[in-house]
Amino acid sequence: MFKELALKRESCRGYDGRPVPHELLQEILETACLSPSACNSQPWRLLAVEGETAEKLRPMVQAAGLNRFADKVSTFVVICETKASLKEGVSGDRQRFAQMDVGMVTMMLTLAAADQGVSTCILGCFRENKIKELLNIPEDVVVRLVVAMGYAEKEGVRKKVRKPYSETIGYQSW
Ligand SMILES: Cc1cc2nc3c(=O)[nH]c(=O)nc-3n(C[C@H](O)[C@H](O)[C@H](O)COP(=O)(O)O)c2cc1C
Repeated sequence: MFKELALKRESCRGYDGRPVPHELLQEILETACLSPSACNSQPWRLLAVEGETAEKLRPMVQAAGLNRFADKVSTFVVICETKASLKEGVSGDRQRFAQMDVGMVTMMLTLAAADQGVSTCILGCFRENKIKELLNIPEDVVVRLVVAMGYAEKEGVRKKVRKPYSETIGYQSW
């Protein structure tokens, strides 16, 4: 059942240090890329970071003492937003759907990982300039998110904390 997977996916903040095996990582990344996007433009590049480069990246997601748990993360995926190519005739800002597309591919990545028993945490706080320098990311590309990936040191999932559904779901009128 999909809901079981949605409940299983959680932001993991305690890892055992093991990296995600490369082939499994590729499988998870390919699954994430099945995500929908406006005009199927796929305005993303998912940059997987492993080994020594992951060690170098680690402090870049730990600015101001944040994300200390990343000390034991050995695999990261840097989610980059690239130029969207919308269909002829679609007027307005070409990038206006790109952040949504990037959000969806990130969601797919975390769910695909959870499905394979791999834990994740989406990280929104990071030193973008340093990451771009480390990974040779072109100037016109925006790093939107970093996803920490690995294996949880403890078994089991937390109870989900969410607003009451009456606040977030409506029928017929506001
Ligand atoms: C855009 C975004 C940025 C986030 N940034 C961080 C972060 O920097 N550090 C962190 O520990 N969690 C981060 N999170 C995780 C959220 O805190 C988490 O998704 C939320 O509390 C719900 O918990 P759950 O993911 O376990 O269901 C981020 C999540 C999103 C979607």
